[in-house]
This record gives sequence, C-alpha cells and structure tokens, in this order.
Amino acid sequence: MSIQYDQSTRTYHLQSRNVSYVMQVVKDGYLAHLYWGRKIRGTAIPDMMPKSYRPSFNPNPFPEDETFSLDTLPQEYPGYGTSDFRSPAYQVRLANGTSVTEFKVVSHRIVAGKPALEGLPSVYAESEQEAETLEVVLEDEAAKLRLIAGYTVFRDSDAIARNVRIENFGEATVRVQRLLSASVDLPHANYEAVHLWGTWARERHVARRALMPGVQAIESRRGSSSHMHNPFYALVTPSTTEDSGEVYAMNLVYSGNFLAQAEVDQFSSTRLSIGLNPFDFEWQLGGGESFQSPEAILVFSGEGLGAMSRTFHKLYRTRLCRGTFRDKERPILINNWEATYFDFDSEKLMKIVRAAKELGLELFVLDDGWFGKRNDDKRSLGDWFVNTDKLPEGLDGLAARVNAEGLSFGLWVEPEMISPDSDLYRAHPDWCLHVPDHRRTLARTQLILDFSRQDVRDYIVERLTDIFSSAPLTYVKWDMNRNMTEIGSAQLPPERQRETAHRYMLGLYEVMEKITSRFPNILFESCSGGGGRFDAGMLHYMPQTWTSDDTDAIERLKIQYGTSLVYPISSMGSHVSEVPNHQVHRVTSLTTRGHVAMSGNFGYELDLSKMSAEEKAEVARQVQEYKELRGLVQQGDFYRLLSPFEGNETAWQFVSEDRSEAYAIFVRTLAVPNEPLARLRLKGLDPEKNYELKGTGRVYGGDELMYVGLPVPKIEGDFGSLAFYFSEAK
Ligand code: DGJ
Repeated sequence: MSIQYDQSTRTYHLQSRNVSYVMQVVKDGYLAHLYWGRKIRGTAIPDMMPKSYRPSFNPNPFPEDETFSLDTLPQEYPGYGTSDFRSPAYQVRLANGTSVTEFKVVSHRIVAGKPALEGLPSVYAESEQEAETLEVVLEDEAAKLRLIAGYTVFRDSDAIARNVRIENFGEATVRVQRLLSASVDLPHANYEAVHLWGTWARERHVARRALMPGVQAIESRRGSSSHMHNPFYALVTPSTTEDSGEVYAMNLVYSGNFLAQAEVDQFSSTRLSIGLNPFDFEWQLGGGESFQSPEAILVFSGEGLGAMSRTFHKLYRTRLCRGTFRDKERPILINNWEATYFDFDSEKLMKIVRAAKELGLELFVLDDGWFGKRNDDKRSLGDWFVNTDKLPEGLDGLAARVNAEGLSFGLWVEPEMISPDSDLYRAHPDWCLHVPDHRRTLARTQLILDFSRQDVRDYIVERLTDIFSSAPLTYVKWDMNRNMTEIGSAQLPPERQRETAHRYMLGLYEVMEKITSRFPNILFESCSGGGGRFDAGMLHYMPQTWTSDDTDAIERLKIQYGTSLVYPISSMGSHVSEVPNHQVHRVTSLTTRGHVAMSGNFGYELDLSKMSAEEKAEVARQVQEYKELRGLVQQGDFYRLLSPFEGNETAWQFVSEDRSEAYAIFVRTLAVPNEPLARLRLKGLDPEKNYELKGTGRVYGGDELMYVGLPVPKIEGDFGSLAFYFSEAK
C-alpha cells in the first residue's frame, strides 16, 4: 500500500496490493483521472492521456491547446457550467444565484491511517500502519469554496474509500445542491452494469445489462436506501464472470436517498458516480461552515465478481462493522414473529422457548407486539412500555424465565416510528415528519418520528436506554417499516426544509451511535421490513441485518445470492420458517429450508413446540451442524458456484481462511426428468490438499474438486438440496 505524489508530473499514484488508482493535476489545476485498475508500476502513465483535436462544441478554456476540453477530459470531481456538459459530481448555488463554479487543486496532504467522517458511518483503520489517506484540496477562489477530496488505500484490501467535504470560507451563505461521494471517468463504454433491485420480500435481485449511450441510473427517493435499489453499482467488461474479467464497483456507505449512475458520453467514455441523491436535496452552507459527503467504497477486481465480493466482504466484516460481536460467532435464535404474530402471552412464548431449549437453540427473540396496546399493527408505536396484560411478569420477568431455560433474551423495537394512535403522538403531534397544510400519509398506519430534531432523538435515546436496561438483553432487532412521505420538519425554517431527509439520517446515526456504544454487549440486527435498509451505513452500527421478510427457501436463493454480491455472510439474518411458507405459500422440505438458512446467521421463525418428533429431531441435527459450521459460514470466504438467476440450480460455498475446511450447498429448484449428470466444481480450495467429505469417508484432491467437480447425487422431487462438508484429510 502506498500513495505517491510525483511533483514533476503532478501525479498521484495510489497503490494497494493488486490495484492502482492514478490522478493527475493538469493545466492550471484541474484534477484529471488517469487510471483505475490492475496494479501498474507507473513508468509512463503521466504521459498516457490520449489527446485529440476537439471541435467548438467542446468548448476550450485554453485556445492555444485545441486538444483540451473539460467536456472530454477524464475527471475526478467534475463540475458543471464552465464547459463539461456531462453529469457533474457537485453543484452549488452561490449567493449571486448562479451555480457556476470551477475548482482547481491548490494543495494536498498524505497522512497515515484513515480519519473518521464526522457523524457518518465509514470504514476504519485500526492502526496508522493499516491505511494511508490522501486529501486533495481544491478551491474556487471567486466563490470562496473549498473541496477536500479524501482517498484512502488499505494495506489488506484492494478497496479505495472516497469522500468529499465542502467548506465555505467566504461570508455569504451558499446552497449545496449536489455533492456526490465519488465520480470516475472510465476510458470506454464497452461495459455492462450490474446492480441490485427488487421490492419488499424480493430484495437485491441481480440485474445486468449492457450500457447504452446516455445516462442510466438507479436511485432511492424513499428516505432509506430501499428494497427497490441498493446503493451499489458496478461496471463489468462483457465477458466478466464470477472468476474472470474486470469489475469497477461502487458502494455507498449511507442508508438514505442515493443516486448511482453511469453516463456514456459522445466519445463513448463512461462516467460512473455515486452519492447522496441530489433529488429534493439542498443544504444551506453559511460562511465558515462545511458539509461532509457520505463515504463511497470503490472496488476494482481483475478476477471477476467473486473476487469483488470477497473484497467487500472482508473489508465490511472487519473494518466497517464494529463492536463486541464483530468477530464473534452469532447465536442461533428463535424469533416468535411468524410463530405468533401479535397473538401471544408469556405462556405461549415459554412453550416455544422450552422447545428451543430442548433442540439446542441459544437465543429467544421477542418480536413486535410486547408494548403499549400493540395487538395489531395499527397502534402504539412510540409507547415503549411493556404490555403487562400479555407479559404480567414484565420484560425482566420474562427474560429471567427465558434465561432459566438456558437461552438468552432478545427484543424487537421500531424506534423511528410513531402511531397516530399512541400516547406519544397525542402528546407530541408535531414530532413526526410532516409539512403544514398537507395530509400526513400513513403506511402500515404509522408515521415517522422526526429524527432531525434533537428533542425527539433525546427522548428516544432515553426510552431505549430504559428498556434496554430493564432486562438482561443480549440482542435487539431494530426495525423500520415504511418509506418517507411529506418530508418536512416543524423545527426547520423554510430554506432548510430540503435538508430534512439527510438530517434525519444524521440524527439516526447519532442515536444508533449512542445506543450501540451504551450497550456494547447487545448484538444489534437492523431490519426494515426485511431488507429495506440493507446497506453499509447500517452495518457500521449493527453488524447484521434481517435480509428479507420473505423466508421461503427458494425465494431466498435469489435474495441471498444477490445480497452476497456486496454484503458479508455474517451480515445476513436467515431463518427456517413454517410451510406452507407465509409469503409465497410454497412447501419446501425442512432440509432445504435448513440448508438455505444455514448459509447466513441462522435461526428459526416458527412454533417449535408444534413440530412433530421427527421434525424436532431434524431441527436438533441442523442446530448441531450449524454450531460446528458457523465459524466457517460467518467468517469464511464465500464463493458463488451456480446462479439462481441463470438456471435451475443454485450453489455456493464457504472456505476457511486456511483452506482446510469447506462447506457447499447445492439446490435444484425444480425436479428434472431423466436428469443430466451433474458435477459441482468447487472453488477456493488448495489444489495440493486432500479433503474428506464428511459422512462418507471419501477423500478427494482439492485439484479434483475444483477442476473435475464433485458428482452430484440424485435429488428426488422439487426444491431438493444437498450439503457437502469437507475438511482437510490428515
Ligand atoms: C417487519 C419485520 O421485517 C418482521 O420481521 C417483523 O419484525 C415485523 N416487521 C414486525 O412488525
């Protein structure tokens, strides 16, 4: 890892183990992008910018050099208004009403380590030796504005972290209307875009399509990163597969409105960018003030999508997630939501707990419905006081009973919400997001607390602190069940209303920072109707996320496969639920449900007490197996073998860091008559090692498993699955 600045060519060369990223200061201070890709030594790169005469429709700030135009120069942080007509990375409305600005490099500094981003989630370095950061300072002297573009490279990762801060060193207030986190101009347009899309219960399906001329974008305007699009966008060369080909990926460490786009211009070069969504956004920046963009993580892989994912996984697992549970094995849980919904009392819950104990589970999670008058989803959010009709012994009494059975106790909350039918709303009707004279649109009969307000945040922190201190909790599920509408705050003046959505996120991050540091021994899992806020921002505070409200094993193949493009396995909650499945009414075997759920943070979400003896025996076996495997699943390297988006078969695999253990799952969705002979080729093993397939005594060479492929035994019926657990043969 290193960051070199060559004064003679004014070139910055960022290098990690396998990747180079090169920028150059050109003319009187423009920051040009020279290269991002496989590591190079940097012999002649400063002279390798192609040049060509440009017609007058590409205006030229330097008449003496007809090869130069900002409209064609590959740039690092482009603006609009002075001759680049492509999508800008930033836009600021000045006090004079115009938004013409032009930033030139004035200085830089290179520091050891990685400075934190104030008030925002980010990846971090644990020591100064682990990372190096370049801060390039650009100024528009006339506008009295400064941009500080931050770039961090890591010793142990091929990711690059980027962010931008804007400072107003003048006196007049300006309005920041766009401040993306990263923009890169790539030299051609022969790419396909890969991103993740979907809806509630069908999140993060993989989309892949060839780039076309013009802008192609994904975004969220929903106030959260959303079920519909994930803040991840990658460009891949057309032949790119899991194991080969070039990938340029960006992921935003942010949980609110975002924009990610690729613009193919007139000369078929491509501008890839990501950041806060400029839509409905504006930030007043007074004299002496600064505004910080969220962080973007850039990953280049020359070895396909699999290597890209493993770079994201390792960085996020070890240097985005924090706290006691970052490196700890996660407990096997039983959650009562699909078992009881709102219809429970302590006796009913204890039946489930006792069954869970018998089967070896470790944590009982009490989901929605334990507080206020919450017997359905129409009321009481905000009234965070235990419902003693349902739980006469209180939370502490119930936790004590659960603990006495040998399980730890976890709780669901939805702290960002308020029901109109709640004591909190009756006392503070202005505490929700709303705008004057307009309807307050309900979703799931609830409104959103205005987390841009300090008084609201303080109240929630106090209530949560009370609840979380009132019982021996070891786990909290933090839910959020609607998108934002009427985004306005009673406390902000008119000219600041368009700051509300981002201020909300900053407020949420402040609350989560306070609560998670106040309760370091609680494992937090975020949730937003499943995966409506499955993003790197949330993972900075809460190391795992409820992947989807869809618990059907076959639906989960696509959801978990897509999620794995970016997010580590240790971040994905996945549970075995009842059949027929509550979301799609499909019937799958307990074995298949187990295999798919064991490919994440494992748990159950059904009434264990109602299972047959045979089913219970299978659950006990799964629990035992997962206890042996979870280190490998949660901390191992992940390889995708067969894609559910491409065929009838899905397979993936976990390999331990020392390559002594591997675990593979194979699922055939529909039965095939007179099926072809199938071999499953594994990945990531040591070709020199021999591996024993558990339960068979058979030993295979790592080379054979990877290059020949394991013969797949016959699977009977639809939705069948197999698991293969290998350990190094002694
Ligand atoms: C949505 C979550 O995704 C579910 O798992 C469950 O917690 C419900 N909310 C409870 O209301």
